[in-house]
Parts: sequence; C-alpha cells; structure tokens
Amino acid sequence: MRNPDLQEIEKFTESAENSRIRAELWGDFVGWSGRRRGENGFLITQLKYHTARRVLDVALGDGADAIFLLQKGFDVATNELDNAFRKKAIENAKKAGLGLNPTSLDWRNLSSEYEPNSFDALICMGNSLTCIKSREGQVDALRQFREILSLGGVLLIDERNYQRMLDNREATIAGTLKSNANQVYTGTNRVKTRFLELNNEMILAQYTHLESGMKAYYNAYPFKKGELLGLLKEAGFSRIEKFSDYEPGDNPDADFYQYVCVK
Ligand SMILES: C[S@@+](CC[C@H](N)C(=O)[O-])C[C@H]1O[C@@H](n2cnc3c(N)ncnc32)[C@H](O)[C@@H]1O
Repeated sequence: MRNPDLQEIEKFTESAENSRIRAELWGDFVGWSGRRRGENGFLITQLKYHTARRVLDVALGDGADAIFLLQKGFDVATNELDNAFRKKAIENAKKAGLGLNPTSLDWRNLSSEYEPNSFDALICMGNSLTCIKSREGQVDALRQFREILSLGGVLLIDERNYQRMLDNREATIAGTLKSNANQVYTGTNRVKTRFLELNNEMILAQYTHLESGMKAYYNAYPFKKGELLGLLKEAGFSRIEKFSDYEPGDNPDADFYQYVCVK
C-alpha cells in the first residue's frame, strides 16, 4: 500500500496549479546563466559541428535554451505542451526583445504540424523524455523526433543519471548522495530539490523555492543504465555519441548524460 500523502502529491503533480508554480520557480531552479556556465558551450559546439542552422526545441520550458540560441543567431522553432511553461517562455522572450510562437504538441504527434526532414537539429534538454512513462510512448516520441530531422540532422537529448540514484536509493531520499547537479546543470541554490519517491517505475521530486516557500512536483520515469541509448537505437538512430556531464564518454558517477544522435 502506497503512502496516501504521496498519492495526493502524485495527483497534484498532474494539476494546472502544479504547472503554474513549476513555471514560476523554474527560472530560479535553472538559473539561466548557471546553465550556460555548466554546459560550457556544449549546445553551440554541437550545433556548429553538425552545421545546424534550423533548430527545434521540442521542450521549450521557460525558454532558457531556445532564447539563448535565438540570441546566438540560430533559426529556432519551439514546442511546449504545458500551458504555463509556454506562457512563461513567451513572456521571457518578450523581455529579451524576441518573439516566440511555440506549437503545443505532444511529442508523439509532432509530425501533425512539422514536415518530415525539416530541421537540422532538435534539442530535448532538461531530462525531459522521462516525462513519458511508457516504453512504447518513449520510442514513439523518439521516432517522431527522427522523422522531422533532415538526413544528417542531429538530436541533442539528455537524461539524469537515475541508475546512480537507484543504486544509492537511501542516500538519494535522505539528500546525502553527493551530486554536482546544481553546478553542472542548473547553477543556483535558490530552489531545493528533494526526492520523495524513487523506485524502478517512478521518481517523485519536490522543488521548494527557498525564498517564497512555493513547492512544485515532478513525476517521471527513471531510465536505467543503457536504457535510453537502447531506445534511441530502436527509434532508428545509429550514430550516437554519449557524454557525461558534457564530457565525452560514459562516467557512472556523472549526474547527467547527454547524447548526440545523428539521423
Ligand atoms: C523538466 S522540463 C524541461 C524544460 C526545458 N527543456 C529545460 O531544460 O528547462 C520537461 C519538459 O518536457 C515537456 N513534456 C513532457 N511530456 C511531454 C510530451 N508528452 N510531449 C511534449 N512535451 C512534453 C514539458 O512540457 C516540459 O517542457
């Protein structure tokens, strides 16, 4: 029998109110300049290496990556399923003097609005694919990503190293597992992340904004070691390079993995 409080939180996680709070605190969670420092040029280096000009950010979030790429001169299209994130990203772009016109598609349905072979690059950052819980749904999404990429186009996608967290479950739940995620990935200490549940099927994370006390939740599927790589291959990507916290290679102690997948 699951903890009834956790069941309530899981239900709340699906609500518009959770989305609203999540979009509100996301900027302080990510820390836009901290993310740039953490990734140390990874996005631009990869996009330039693969001569990408036309880019689609399939998981816009609050616009942290898409707005940066627009400022760097890329031709960026955007997609965001979540209403609150979409609104926040448009607001953030406006503040930067830029316009965004995101679509609001589920990844499994991207080809309803985007033509096959139409982008040089797709980015799906921020551990986003884990939001789809079913294996079938994950592969469908990756197949759609591949379909709208041009031949030789590149998918940049990342995942949190959940295997390490599952292997150190008690320390993860207690908050004592050593992690550099807030330097490598987000770059702020203004939002505290706590893992309320972590098992083979799901993770439930709580984000607390330390100044305002606002709390939002994130419910996702934890990819196991090698799982995302297997799904990428199943979706048809054959040239895949793995990075660990933005360094080439496969480091079991990394906080995040990035994959550069060529169509
Ligand atoms: C953790 S947020 C990451 C946002 C942003 N990329 C970043 O790095 O800050 C997860 C993103 O995945 C999107 N998402 C989750 N499930 C989705 C689905 N089935 N189809 C499309 N987008 C989805 C959410 O709307 C959200 O933008």
